[in-house]
Amino acid sequence: MSDDLAIRPIADDDLDAVLDVYRQCEDFLALGPVPDASLTMVLSDIGLSQACGGCYCGIYIMDGRMIGIVDYVPRNYEGDPRAAYIALLMIAAPFRWRGIGQAVLEAIEKEIRRDAQVNTILAGLQVNNPQAIHFWQRNGYRIVGGPELMPDRTTVYHLRKDLTPPSAPEPCTHHAARDSSRCGAQYDTHHTARSTQYAVKYEV
Ligand SMILES: CC(C)(COP(=O)(O)OP(=O)(O)OC[C@H]1O[C@@H](n2cnc3c(N)ncnc32)[C@H](O)[C@@H]1OP(=O)(O)O)[C@@H](O)C(=O)NCCC(=O)NCCS
Repeated sequence: MSDDLAIRPIADDDLDAVLDVYRQCEDFLALGPVPDASLTMVLSDIGLSQACGGCYCGIYIMDGRMIGIVDYVPRNYEGDPRAAYIALLMIAAPFRWRGIGQAVLEAIEKEIRRDAQVNTILAGLQVNNPQAIHFWQRNGYRIVGGPELMPDRTTVYHLRKDLTPPSAPEPCTHHAARDSSRCGAQYDTHHTARSTQYAVKYEV
C-alpha cells in the first residue's frame, strides 16, 4: 500500500463506498444500539453532520479506494467559535493498526488549527470501546465528562483536547480556491501534512 492518504468530502456517488466502509466497521457499530450498517444509517449520519456544520469526509488510499470516514465540525461547535468537534473517526477493519487513524487525526487537527480562534477540540466516545479510549488518550484527549446516555442510546465519555498555539506558521504549499460549501468552511486548502508514516493530502 502506498504511504499516501487523501481526505475529502464525500461526493454523491461515494455512497456505496461509504456503506462498504460502515460494513467493514460493524464490529464498532455492534458496540452501539444498531449493529448493522445500512444506507439509512449512512444518510442519517451525513444529515446530522450537515445540520451542525460538519465536514463528512472519506479517507482514501492512493488507488482511490475509500478506507475510512472522518466527520468533524471545524469550528463553532454548538455556537462556540472556539470549539471544534470530531464526531466520527472510523477506519475499515483491514486497514487498522497501521498508524492511519493517528495520521488522519493529526491531519484533521492541523486543519482545525488553521482557524486561530479555535482552541479546543471535543469528541465523544462510547464507554465500551476501550481500544479507542486508549487511542484518543494517546493522542492527547482527556476524559472530561460522562458516562452519559445520549439520545441515540449510546453511553459516552466526553473528550477534550486543548490546543496550544503552533510554534511557527505552517506553510501552505498550494492554494486552489475551491467551493467548500459542504463543510460550511472557508478552506481553500490543498496541502500535505506529513505524519510519522503517511503523507495526508487535504482536498477539502
Ligand atoms: C480507533 C481507530 C480510529 C484507530 O485507528 P487505527 O488506524 O487503527 O489506529 P493507529 O494504527 O493509528 O493506532 C492504533 C495502534 O496501532 C499502533 N500502530 C501504529 N502504526 C503501527 C504499525 N506500523 N505497526 C504496528 N502498530 C502500529 C499504534 O501504536 C497504536 O497502538 P497503541 O494505541 O496501542 O499505542 C480504529 O481502530 C477504528 O476505526 N476503530 C473502529 C471505530 C472506532 O472505534 N472509532 C473511534 C470512535 S469514533
